[in-house]
Amino acid sequence: MGTEEQSSQKAAGKVAPATGKLGVMVVGLGAVATTMIAGVEAVRRGLAKPIGSLTQMGTIRLGKRTDSTSPLIKDFVPLAKLEDIVFTGWDIFEDNVYEAAAHAEVLDKETLAKLKPYLETIKPLPAVFDQYYVKRLNGTHIKKGKNKRDLANQLIADIRAFKKTVDRVVIIWAASTEIFIEPTAVHQSIEAFEKGLDNDDIAIAPSQIYAYAALSEGVPFANGAPNLTVDTPAMIELSKRNAAPICGKDFKTGQTLMKTVLAPAFKARLLGIKGWFSTNILGNRDGEVLDDPQSFKTKEESKLGSLDYILQPELYPDLYKDLYHKIRINYYPPRGDDKEAWDNIDIFGWLGYPMQIKVNFLCRDSILAAPIALDLVLFLDLAKRTPELRSIGIQEWLSFYLKSPQSAPGLYPEHDLFIQSMKLKNTLRHIMGADLITHLGLEYYD
Ligand SMILES: NC(=O)c1ccc[n+]([C@@H]2O[C@H](COP(=O)([O-])OP(=O)(O)OC[C@H]3O[C@@H](n4cnc5c(N)ncnc54)[C@H](O)[C@@H]3O)[C@@H](O)[C@H]2O)c1
Repeated sequence: MGTEEQSSQKAAGKVAPATGKLGVMVVGLGAVATTMIAGVEAVRRGLAKPIGSLTQMGTIRLGKRTDSTSPLIKDFVPLAKLEDIVFTGWDIFEDNVYEAAAHAEVLDKETLAKLKPYLETIKPLPAVFDQYYVKRLNGTHIKKGKNKRDLANQLIADIRAFKKTVDRVVIIWAASTEIFIEPTAVHQSIEAFEKGLDNDDIAIAPSQIYAYAALSEGVPFANGAPNLTVDTPAMIELSKRNAAPICGKDFKTGQTLMKTVLAPAFKARLLGIKGWFSTNILGNRDGEVLDDPQSFKTKEESKLGSLDYILQPELYPDLYKDLYHKIRINYYPPRGDDKEAWDNIDIFGWLGYPMQIKVNFLCRDSILAAPIALDLVLFLDLAKRTPELRSIGIQEWLSFYLKSPQSAPGLYPEHDLFIQSMKLKNTLRHIMGADLITHLGLEYYD
């Protein structure tokens, strides 16, 4: 203790091995999902490298810096192998994954052609959908039921059928952003939620019905969009009760990734910020959905939170109290998935002298999101096999991947990317009974 490494209390119980097939059910087979699925297949065939994926390419240091021991994460913790992943999913359109990927226009035609026979085999199950919650979409491949409880039961039947073909299942929401919904009485307990399903409560959106079905079946659930979904007391309770780990919300990919790298740097150096203006253009279906003010509101809330939590204006009123933070997303079809983001940051330094920083990120939305979706699936499966993690509900150590990370009630979330990265790696060290790394390092100078 008090050295660069710190003894981790011995992890309670061993992590179960990842034997057999991991079934991944993706809600929404759109740009992100198809880029992940096609990418996993391309990597399995040796056609490309899994760049951007911590589970596939990341290493983890163990012991002292002088020990030079840094295995690959996938060799240190028992993760499912890409070869053992089996994909399926739901969508409101009937397109198979090849057709959906071709429509999304993220991956080039040549790559898709090589993967076509495999991608064509993955056909979506009919979805639970209601246009009230996503105004800009109108799908036809949807389930009919007498109420929301009935729809939940149909999803449970889908999950049970898939379970018979694989050894373990994880579900991830990569479907469209729903309208902004605030938690109500129906979200406060499992009982209230179930009553709400029976009564078709309007505050229960489709994403929550999927989450309920997953957690009822003890299946881990990740939320890649900013919807409420698993971020309610009822779902947290169900997650704990059925040992089904959860995490959310909203993949942290482009602009917010940059924000949660830059803001900690300004704060660490005590540089003030007067204003932060962020704007984006994107032209994919996600952009079209976010063009609706009610879906945009959900996204805006998710994107706004990070700066406040990182900068702690209540502790640094002279530096951040008057910060003006504005976010815009503009739907601009010519760009497709190739988003462009601009940030103008008005900072000030010594004696209050002003300066400016401009960030212009020309990114590819789904290329950034796909490895995140893959890592979340693999780590949630790991959590489910880890006695110490499986029944705690929210997996805060996965905040690293999320724009608006869920944390325990009353606990503020960590947004700083480097704190999140350290937390994730220390969690892996901890569950494997290895020493934690605090970066104190005095022992090198004894
Ligand atoms: N790409 C990124 O960088 C990024 C980052 C953060 C969050 N996200 C979020 O991830 C989600 C997916 O993004 P995308 O670019 O793949 O969008 P997309 O529009 O290409 O795909 C979403 C898919 O979900 C389907 N869908 C909608 N409602 C559904 C329902 N109830 N059940 C089943 N399927 C449903 C749609 O038909 C569509 O095929 C969005 O919510 C987006 O905001 C994306």
